[in-house]
Amino acid sequence: IRTRVAIVGAGPAGLILSHLLADAGIESIVIDQRSRDEIEHTIRAGILEQGTVDLLTAIDPNTRVNTVGDRHDGIELRFQGEGHRIDFPGLVGRSVWLYPQHEVLKDMLALRLGAGQDLRFGVTATRVEDIDSERPRVLTTTAAGEELTIEADFVVGADGSRSVVRPAITGDSRSGFFREYPFAWFGILTEAPPSAEELIYSNSPNGFALISQRSPEVQRMYFQCAPDADPNALSEEQIWETLQSRVPGTTLKEGPIFQRDVLRFRSFVANELRHGRAALVGDAAHTVPPTGAKGMNLAIADVMLLARALRALLTENDERLIDGYAEQASRRIWKAQHFSWWMTSMLHTAPDASEFDHLRQAGELRSVVESEAGRSFLAEAYTGWPID
Ligand code: DHB
Repeated sequence: IRTRVAIVGAGPAGLILSHLLADAGIESIVIDQRSRDEIEHTIRAGILEQGTVDLLTAIDPNTRVNTVGDRHDGIELRFQGEGHRIDFPGLVGRSVWLYPQHEVLKDMLALRLGAGQDLRFGVTATRVEDIDSERPRVLTTTAAGEELTIEADFVVGADGSRSVVRPAITGDSRSGFFREYPFAWFGILTEAPPSAEELIYSNSPNGFALISQRSPEVQRMYFQCAPDADPNALSEEQIWETLQSRVPGTTLKEGPIFQRDVLRFRSFVANELRHGRAALVGDAAHTVPPTGAKGMNLAIADVMLLARALRALLTENDERLIDGYAEQASRRIWKAQHFSWWMTSMLHTAPDASEFDHLRQAGELRSVVESEAGRSFLAEAYTGWPID
């Protein structure tokens, strides 16, 4: 089959890109190896930057982000037994929204399917060919085991960290810039009321914890654990004990734990984001550790740039924006890489941390919270740098 843009991956990046392209009169096909049900029910991130909410509102003025989502005007950093609030609107005039990624996906899937988008589930990309030509192709296998070739004017890899499009662009799937971390997050979903009004990022002598939320009835919490931790090795009682010991000063509201998972920590940026008639967005292009919630927001920022570049290329035959895509996207990507690494290293306890390291971290946190410049730096990054 033939289309103008072949989008591999129906996550937030791929779906939003298909919308922005359709808006510019550019037809696309979106494929994903997962089923619709799996896409809509995988629990991922929960925080949307101001710019992400502005875009979702522009796409659909009735978006549930504004009704079901919850605006958060600050976070708390806790260390040495004290909480310090970072007041986002007061510092930078922006906020963030708590609205789970899978809800964004439900909204976007309904919207795209309602608009007649060619969107195919259970279709696995196996190879991308001829990106140096003006007719690149995506070779795929359908759920029924049939082979299907999609010929396009441009191929977009929005297919996550195990991207099939990436090796066609970078030469092999691992070429890029990597960093590993000596810890991970143990995450839970619990049926309980919120333990605090705003998110708490806590640096404690026993390690990091994050008290987040999902809704008035469901809460998301994380604590630092070993990278090889087994999510089933702890009893509910042990989980609550660990969490509680890491947020001294707050009594957590406990409830049944109905989901648990271990999230790995990695930083990665592919060494090429575009080659010929193919480009990468989102996790296919980069991975950030979760602290600071930049992953989905960064993917959506990539897409805003790429949509503009594809519009110029495919409707006006103007190559300037697509030639500049990698460099322009990289600027934000590396700012987000720095922010995610910085929040991670400032708040977590390395396995070999000395007393010096603990006190230095407290000094670092203090220089942020006791300075308006420090708090503004954090607030600007957390709520998202403006898209230019
Ligand atoms: C959540 C995840 C994050 O990484 C973060 O910084 C804040 C919130 C969450 O899943 O709720």
